[in-house]
Amino acid sequence: MKEKIVNLLASRIPALSVSEIDQYLEIPPKTDMGDYAFPCFKLAKAYRKAPAVIAQELAAEIGEQDFLESVNPLGPYVNFFVNKSAYAEMVMDKYTESADYGASSEGNGQTICIDYSSPNVAKNFHVGHLRTTIIGNSLYKIFTKLSYKVERINHLGDWGTQFGKLIVAYKKWGSREAVESRGIEELMEIYVRFHKEADEDPSLEDQARAAFTELENGNKEYEELWKWFVDISLKEFLRIYDILGMSFDHFTGESFYRDQTSTVVEMLKERGLLTESEGALVVMLDEYDMPPCIVAKKDGSSIYATRDLAAILYRKKSYDFSKCLYVTGLEQKLHFAQIFKVIELMGYDYASNLVHIPYGLVSLKGGKLSTRNGNVIYAEDLLNEAIAKTRSIIEEKGSGIEDKDKVAHDVGVGAILFNDLYNQRIKDVVFDWEKLLNFDGETGPYVQYTYARASSVLRKIGIDGDAAASRLKEMTDFSKLTDEYSLALLKVIEKYPSVIKEAASRYEPSMVARYSMDLAHAFNAFYRECQINVPDEALRNSRTSLVVMSRSIIRDSLALLGINCPEAM
Ligand code: ARG
Repeated sequence: MKEKIVNLLASRIPALSVSEIDQYLEIPPKTDMGDYAFPCFKLAKAYRKAPAVIAQELAAEIGEQDFLESVNPLGPYVNFFVNKSAYAEMVMDKYTESADYGASSEGNGQTICIDYSSPNVAKNFHVGHLRTTIIGNSLYKIFTKLSYKVERINHLGDWGTQFGKLIVAYKKWGSREAVESRGIEELMEIYVRFHKEADEDPSLEDQARAAFTELENGNKEYEELWKWFVDISLKEFLRIYDILGMSFDHFTGESFYRDQTSTVVEMLKERGLLTESEGALVVMLDEYDMPPCIVAKKDGSSIYATRDLAAILYRKKSYDFSKCLYVTGLEQKLHFAQIFKVIELMGYDYASNLVHIPYGLVSLKGGKLSTRNGNVIYAEDLLNEAIAKTRSIIEEKGSGIEDKDKVAHDVGVGAILFNDLYNQRIKDVVFDWEKLLNFDGETGPYVQYTYARASSVLRKIGIDGDAAASRLKEMTDFSKLTDEYSLALLKVIEKYPSVIKEAASRYEPSMVARYSMDLAHAFNAFYRECQINVPDEALRNSRTSLVVMSRSIIRDSLALLGINCPEAM
């Protein structure tokens, strides 16, 4: 509709370009002032007339249009009232045009790599890793909807000098049984002990360095120990991905690049980018106001940055990405700026397609996120707590739903995901149990509840919402959808495709989360004010088709966030 009005104006206002008109066209604060309003101030100079006069003339010139109810001048504005049933029909046409409303072919043929989650072996999967996992997964869904091929990459922290320490610690104080039974918890404990004891006995550090060098050089015993630490950790990580219902295409962690780092160092040398600094090899970046990027330590061992450089070259070669995204906390901003710059200095113009996607911190209301020994809360505990709390809320409400465990799971996990994605990612996230699980608040459960309500309405009417999607146009008499609430709902429905596109271009899943909330609000107002199961068949069918559309878009938008929708709750 907006486009049609813009074109209408453009053909009558040669003084302004189409995009200028598009920019000036407003949505009035009150619907009784029209659906769109065009301010004529901008034309006063060119026309040498008062804006109110211009508005009068313009309105008269536009006259009657079949998709407009009326065009009225009001002061310096021309107000447009769209023909409501024509509008309803247009929205439904758009909706039924494709089998997957909101999808587009924008990404056809292009690959996007998303590097996210990436927890560290022998360290707990904490709430910060939960954020990258949730955001990365949502970006994967959003880009897939826009027809990009997405490679989901888990860049596990499974290599580095810390494994030298762990090997030394394990050989001194570890036991196979304890690690088998306590997993990461035990590995973290011996690691902490290593640091304590190394304060007393600095020679431990040398032993650890030597152990890592041996590991890098292929010491069989160490290799086996390391592999075991990775397996133990991965088992715990997979348990979390399982709760979240998320998966990856590649678990190519840092160790995957261990044989490629020397090539990277070679390439940097050939290009004259390396400088020796206190025995280490670095790429100087002071010209770009950054500290040097270290690529090899004094003892020759590789580091985090070297493995990331190798990973970029590998991914470009293997996937020929059009973009490679990195979802990590803000504290790694400098690291990524450095390695992206090094790639640029190596002469690769695709450096501009490497994007760091940072996010804010996590805190817990009324509690501490760190445990006694300073470790951050386990994501798994948090998820399980959300599920358990939801379970007891369901129990309390005494609802008759059958699969309580599955519903508690989807709603509990959904609450955490929604809470994470509802605000711009750079904002900090607060876990406030009461807020997060409030079925009437701005929460995941509220939107899920709205979905269940829509499903229940359809069940009562005896309509299968998914099957009805193909019959919507036959079912609908558009003149029955011209009331205020239907119209408001249609306006939200119309926006979905553009919201997805914008969320993708800004790497901002919160736009989809906000949208799902707007849709839930608009649907609930419609539900409250417009009875659906009425005797008038045409009215009932037309309203039912609005329910069918709303329900399916709520489900789809939550799916883009990684959230499931129970049919009843
Ligand atoms: N393992 C790192 C951490 O926990 C995140 C890795 C991010 N990805 C990367 N390619 N550096 O902080």
